[in-house]
Amino acid sequence: MSAPHTIKAASSAPACGSSQPHESAAAQVAGAATYVDDIAEVRGTLHAAPILSPIAHGRLTGVDAAAALALPGVRGVVLAQDIPGDPVLAAFAHDEPIFAIDTVEHVGRVIGLVVADTVMQARKAARAVVLDIEALPAVLDVREALAAQSFVLPPVRVQRGDAQAGLARATHRLSGQFEVGGQEHFYLEGQIAYVLPQEQNQWLVYSSTQHPGEAQHWVAHALGLDNHRVRVECRRMGGGFGGKETQSGHLAVWAAIAANKFKCPVKLRLDRDDDFMITGKRHPFAYDYTVGFDDTGLITGLQLTMLANCGFSADLSGPVADRAVFHADNASFLSDVDITSYRCKTHTQSHTAFRGFGGPQGVIVIETLLGDIARHLGLDALDVRQRNLYGVNDRNVTHYQMPVEDNILQPLLERLEQTSSYRERRRQIAAWNAQSPVLKRGLAITPVKFGISFTATLFNQAGALVHVYTDGSVMVNHGGTEMGQGLHTKVAQIVADELGVPFERVLVTASDTARVPNASATAASSGTDLNGRAAQFAARNVRDNLAAFAAGLDGCGAGAIRFAGGQVISPKASRPFAEVVQAAYANRIQLWSDGFYRTPKIHYDKTTLTGRPFYYFAYGAACTEVVIDTLTGESRVLAADILHDVGTSLNPALDIGQIEGAFIQGMGWLTTEELVWDKKGRLATHAPSTYKIPTAGDVPPRFTVDLWPEPNREDNVFGSKAVGEPPFMLAISVWEAIRDAVAAARGDGTARMDAPATAERVLGALKVR
Ligand code: MTE
Ligand code: HPA
Ligand code: MOS
Repeated sequence: MSAPHTIKAASSAPACGSSQPHESAAAQVAGAATYVDDIAEVRGTLHAAPILSPIAHGRLTGVDAAAALALPGVRGVVLAQDIPGDPVLAAFAHDEPIFAIDTVEHVGRVIGLVVADTVMQARKAARAVVLDIEALPAVLDVREALAAQSFVLPPVRVQRGDAQAGLARATHRLSGQFEVGGQEHFYLEGQIAYVLPQEQNQWLVYSSTQHPGEAQHWVAHALGLDNHRVRVECRRMGGGFGGKETQSGHLAVWAAIAANKFKCPVKLRLDRDDDFMITGKRHPFAYDYTVGFDDTGLITGLQLTMLANCGFSADLSGPVADRAVFHADNASFLSDVDITSYRCKTHTQSHTAFRGFGGPQGVIVIETLLGDIARHLGLDALDVRQRNLYGVNDRNVTHYQMPVEDNILQPLLERLEQTSSYRERRRQIAAWNAQSPVLKRGLAITPVKFGISFTATLFNQAGALVHVYTDGSVMVNHGGTEMGQGLHTKVAQIVADELGVPFERVLVTASDTARVPNASATAASSGTDLNGRAAQFAARNVRDNLAAFAAGLDGCGAGAIRFAGGQVISPKASRPFAEVVQAAYANRIQLWSDGFYRTPKIHYDKTTLTGRPFYYFAYGAACTEVVIDTLTGESRVLAADILHDVGTSLNPALDIGQIEGAFIQGMGWLTTEELVWDKKGRLATHAPSTYKIPTAGDVPPRFTVDLWPEPNREDNVFGSKAVGEPPFMLAISVWEAIRDAVAAARGDGTARMDAPATAERVLGALKVR
């Protein structure tokens, strides 16, 4: 497969704004793109498999590995006592032993590893290890956790105005409870780490991770070493979706401890069932609410309790639950609001980042309430949504005191209302439903307003290196990671334009902690905003050096030198970039540079959650039509029309791909993807046989995506906006459309349901009176 490596005829058009194919697309479809498990194994590599707790909560009193050790190929076991450094993971809360020490806190808790010559030998032997666990009472439900005050982190309360007064003055009030489920990441490439001991106590770790820097720090901490002895590399992931923000680091640490014990390279690749049993998911949430509103549907007061099911440790639950609080308004101005967020500890997997990072669990509350309010008043839900929308000159400060300065919600919703023929279809659907006794259709438009920046302010920084070689080819390295989203492609486009060279002349190589240190996770959708800018600044430094050099040749000012179409252009001459580079090298000019970027303007108070946590907002809206079968509860999405704001698109093909993928993934979360833990805390849905993600056949027959035609109003790279997560929440229109269909079938203006809207739940919602 040579095609990906051939340099196409140099194009002179700018790369940014054009639909360059993903830098690995051809290699990926040809099977020529390397994932960690494809790396040629070093001689002597051993394989590890995890020993898992079958009990949700218990005292671990013994591990008997005799039977496992007797099996062919088995080299030994690795337990907590084999950890040379701190036995507690270097996670920020420092609340999670690397291997369970004397207690187990969920089914699937990793107690240790079996190490063998082959992966199948290791997996077989891990199941032969006999565990002595004395069962203790397990907390499996968030409401139980709240009653027991079982928390991983203290509660947080955010108030604005006077919620009680707002409720008192309301002409209508609705109160209730509901729940939304978690979600398994189901990255196609499962979690994996391959650790190779190097000379003089140095370590090379190949990890499928969104956060190589954290894996490096965690491994060093566990091995009792300085960070500089550990180098983590990741060329790409086969999907991360947040599931490899922290939890990939556990595998790196586990494999490193085994490699240290046996003084051999060790690979740890989880099989799909173990991946499901061990790793955390999207946080399931439960809510209690009272909302007050007037006859027009305007919300006058909201009292909300959010219970995040965090699992057994903190992991990222603090910032996830914070983001849920920050998104409980979505597109609605809430004048008088009181939100309390509990971070509940349960004896389940430690729930973690997942696309939207708590945002979806916030947005779904207000959109559900707006749907209920509309039905209660007999109004159209879109009218009620418009009624509550953030204003431009007033009603424009969030409940956490951030002014919404870039609001485009009103024109965006109006345009989608037109292009989707919303009003006309409402009438058609009502007429259709009136003559259809079994099938019922539903329709909904829901907006999205999503805050861009890490909620942990310090993570909003990035670094990059740009090297220009003497032939004029360019290599870029930055702190971000590639998980399929197209980050490396966009960064290459930015650097190509900064240097005025064709896209094909720029290569982005593997993320590597030895090249760019202390990089943040590639997360919060900010990969391009942060790393793209850092790379742009690095390229600008090289360009400035070249401009000064070329200006010297032609006796003009450096400001008069332009870089475009692969040429360096002065008022006197136009020279090929490679020729200038070659001459600059001969004159001892520096042809490489670093670049650093930190997001401006952001700050907030972590205790009151007030300030400006986000640099800007990304907006969007979706109009979704569904049909439900009232005899079986099955649903299908018939049409989805999306209008989404990515600022000035760096790459329309990648951006539209992100929007489509996010919508479908969100649709899965709210329809078929159901996680079921049994009464003993065992995850019953731990394989594709029982856990159903959407397939190609579930893509709506009509699926349109339009991009909002305006640049980011904040100074962001190329005028673009982040795109990775915001469109996930467009899928809440599927949820609202299903509830619209349920209400049509019930005919009493109600549609109470918990998410996901599985066939079983829809059927239940039709029956409950
Ligand atoms: N797209 C693909 N194909 N695979 C992924 O794993 N992760 C999502 C999103 N899009 C993901 C994806 C998540 S959770 C985030 S935060 C962003 O990509 C991260 O990348 P970015 O910051 O470069 O957009
Ligand atoms: N998103 C994703 N990951 C994070 C965030 C966030 O806002 N904050 C800290 N880690
Ligand atoms: Mo994405 S959940 O911020 O990795």
